[in-house]
Amino acid sequence: MRSGAVTKTLRWTAAFIAIFSFAVMAAAQQQSSNAVSQASSALPGATSATYVGSDTCKTCHADQYTQIEITQHWNTNLKGAAGQQWHGCESCHGPGSAHVEAGGDKTKIFAFTTATPAQIAQRCLTCHSNTHPNFLRSDHFTNNVTCISCHSPHHAQDQDFLLKAKTPQLCYGCHNDARADFNRPFHHRVNEGLIQCSDCHNVHDSRPKQAKLNTTQDQICFKCHADKRGPFTFEHLPVKTEGCSSCHTPHGSNNQRLLRRTDVNNMCIECHGLSTFATLHNQSTKYQACTLCHVAIHGSNFSNIFFR
Ligand code: HEC
Ligand code: HEC
Ligand code: HEC
Ligand code: HEC
Ligand code: HEC
Ligand code: HEC
Ligand code: HEC
Ligand code: HEC
Ligand code: HEC
Ligand code: HEC
Repeated sequence: MRSGAVTKTLRWTAAFIAIFSFAVMAAAQQQSSNAVSQASSALPGATSATYVGSDTCKTCHADQYTQIEITQHWNTNLKGAAGQQWHGCESCHGPGSAHVEAGGDKTKIFAFTTATPAQIAQRCLTCHSNTHPNFLRSDHFTNNVTCISCHSPHHAQDQDFLLKAKTPQLCYGCHNDARADFNRPFHHRVNEGLIQCSDCHNVHDSRPKQAKLNTTQDQICFKCHADKRGPFTFEHLPVKTEGCSSCHTPHGSNNQRLLRRTDVNNMCIECHGLSTFATLHNQSTKYQACTLCHVAIHGSNFSNIFFR
C-alpha cells in the first residue's frame, strides 16, 4: 500500500511538472504566430481564460457531468491537493471562463470532437505519458489513430479501460484480417475470452507490429509456452533466429498446430531443400511425416537430430 501511495505521489509530481511546463510552453507559443504555434495544442482562444469549476459546466452540460461523474476521471488527483485544473471537466477541456462568458462559444474551449489527432494525444498524455511514453511513435498514432479512436471518457462501452467497445470487437472494427484469422479452425482462443489481444500486443507502444516483445521476436510466446524457451543443448536454429512465426501463424490457421503449411514435410523442405533431404532419406512415404521421427522439433538436450 505504502509503495503504491509513493508511486502515485511521484506520478503526480511528474504530471504536475509536465502540465506546468506545458502551460509555459503554450504561453510562449501564443506569442509567436508561426506555423509551429498553429500545430501546437495550445487551447484555441483560451489564453486569458480561468478555471470556473465543474459545477458551472454542469448548469449547461448535465449529461456530460453525469457521464464523467461515474468514471475514473472524476477525481483525477489526490483530493483537494491542487486546483480545478486537476479534476473534473477542465482537467481535459482546459479553463472554461471565456467559453462560459460567451454563452457556450465552442471555439473558446478545447473540443476533442474538432481537435486534431495530435492535439488530442498531447492533451491526454499530459497525465498519461508515464504509462504510455512511446505512443507518439506507435504504428497507431503515426497512422492517425489517437486516444479517442479507442477510448471514450464520456461514452465508454467497457468501463474498465473506458473503451469505446469491448475487445476484441473494438480491434476487429479496424482489423478485419485479424477477425478472419481468429475464425480459422485452429486459433488462439481470443474470441472465447481465454487470451486477449493485449497478451501479445501493446497498442500504445512503438515496437514493430505493436508487439509486446523484448529483444527477440518470441519473448511473448514464452510467457505461456515456457517449455519452448530452452536453452537446449541442440537448438533448432530457426526457432532462435527467425522466431516462432517462421513455422506458425500466431493468430490462427487452417492447419493443426497453427502451422503455416498443410503438410509438415513441405514446410521442412522449404528450408532444408529437397536435394539435401533426398540424399539422407529416400522418397518413400515413411519419411514424409518428418516429426514422427524428429519429434523434439523445437530443440533437444539429447539428440542433435531432435529424435527426442
Ligand atoms: C451557459 C451554458 C454553458 C456553460 C456554463 C458551459 N457550456 Fe459548454 N457549451 C455550451 C453550448 C451551448 C455549447 C454548444 C456550442 C455549439 O454547438 O456551437 C457548448 C459546447 C461545449 C463544448 C464543445 C462540444 C463539442 O462540440 O465538441 C465543450 C467541450 C464544452 N462546451 C465544455 C464545457 C465545459 C468544460 C464547461 C465548464 C468549464 C462548459 N462547457 C460550460 C454551453 C455552456
Ligand atoms: C478525461 C478527459 C475528459 C474529462 C474529464 C471531461 N471530458 Fe468532455 N470530452 C472528452 C472527450 C475525449 C470528448 C469527445 C467524446 C468522447 O470521446 O467521449 C468530450 C466531449 C465533450 C462534449 C461534447 C459532447 C459529447 O458528449 O461528446 C462536451 C459538451 C463535454 N465533453 C463536456 C464535458 C464536461 C461538462 C465535463 C465535466 C463534467 C467533461 N466534459 C469532462 C474528454 C473529457
Ligand atoms: C488531468 C489528468 C488526466 C487527463 C488530462 C486525462 N487523464 Fe485519464 N486518468 C487520469 C487518472 C488520474 C486516472 C485514474 C486511474 C489511474 O490511477 O491511473 C485516469 C484513468 C484513465 C483511464 C482508465 C484506466 C484504468 O485503469 O481503468 C483511461 C483509459 C484514461 N484515463 C484515458 C484518458 C484519455 C483517453 C484522456 C484524454 C481524452 C485522458 N485519460 C486524460 C488522469 C488524466
Ligand atoms: C488502438 C486502440 C487504443 C489507442 C489508440 C489507445 N489506447 Fe489506451 N488502451 C487500449 C486498450 C485495449 C486498453 C486495455 C488494456 C491494454 O490493452 O493495455 C488500454 C488501456 C489504457 C489505459 C489503462 C491501462 C494502462 O496501461 O495504464 C490507459 C490509461 C490508456 N489506455 C490511455 C490511453 C491514452 C492516453 C491514449 C492516447 C495517448 C491511448 N490510451 C490510446 C486501447 C487503446
Ligand atoms: C498469441 C499472440 C497474439 C495474439 C493473442 C494476438 N496477436 Fe496479433 N500478432 C501476433 C504476432 C506474433 C504478430 C506478428 C506476426 C508476424 O510477424 O508474422 C501479430 C501481428 C498482428 C497484426 C499485423 C498484421 C499481421 O497479421 O502481421 C495485427 C493487425 C494484429 N496482430 C492484430 C491483433 C488483434 C486485433 C488481436 C486480437 C483480436 C491479436 N492481434 C492477437 C501475436 C498475437
Ligand atoms: C480506429 C481503428 C483502429 C482500432 C480501433 C485499432 N487499430 Fe490497430 N491499427 C490501426 C491502423 C490504421 C494501424 C496502422 C496500419 C496498419 O498497419 O494496419 C494499426 C496497426 C496495428 C498493429 C500493427 C500492424 C502492423 O502491421 O505492424 C497492431 C498489432 C494493431 N494495430 C493491433 C490492434 C489491437 C490489438 C487493437 C484493439 C485493442 C487495435 N489495433 C485497434 C487501426 C486501428
Ligand atoms: C497468454 C498465453 C499465450 C501466449 C502469450 C501464447 N500462447 Fe500459444 N497457446 C496458448 C494456449 C492456452 C494454447 C492452447 C490452445 C487452445 O486450446 O486454445 C495455445 C496454443 C498454441 C499452439 C497450438 C498448440 C496445439 O496443440 O495445437 C501453438 C502452435 C502456439 N500456441 C504458438 C504460440 C506462439 C507462436 C505464440 C507467440 C506469438 C504464442 N503461442 C503465445 C497460450 C498462449
Ligand atoms: C522449425 C519450425 C518451427 C518453429 C520455428 C517453431 N515451431 Fe512450434 N511446432 C512445429 C511443428 C512442426 C509442430 C507440430 C509438431 C507435431 O505435430 O508433432 C509444432 C508444435 C508446436 C506446439 C504444440 C505442440 C507442442 O509441442 O506443445 C506449440 C505450443 C508450439 N509449436 C509453439 C512454438 C513456439 C512458442 C515457437 C517459438 C519459440 C515455435 N513453436 C517455433 C514447428 C516449429
Ligand atoms: C525456417 C527454416 C527451417 C524450417 C522451416 C525447418 N528447419 Fe530444420 N533447420 C534449419 C536450420 C537453419 C538448421 C541448422 C542447419 C545447420 O546448422 O546447418 C536446421 C537444422 C535441423 C536439423 C538438425 C540437423 C542439422 O542439419 O543440423 C534437423 C534434424 C532439422 N532441422 C529438421 C527439421 C524438420 C523435421 C523440420 C520440419 C518440421 C524443419 N527442420 C524445419 C532451418 C529450418
Ligand atoms: C523414419 C524416420 C525419419 C523421418 C520420417 C524423417 N527423418 Fe530426417 N532423419 C532421420 C534419421 C535416422 C536421420 C539421421 C541420418 C544420418 O545421420 O545418417 C535424419 C536426419 C535428418 C536431417 C539432418 C541431416 C544432417 O545433415 O545430418 C535433416 C535436416 C532431416 N533428417 C530432415 C527431415 C525432414 C525434412 C523430414 C520430413 C520430410 C524427415 N527428416 C523425416 C529419420 C527420419
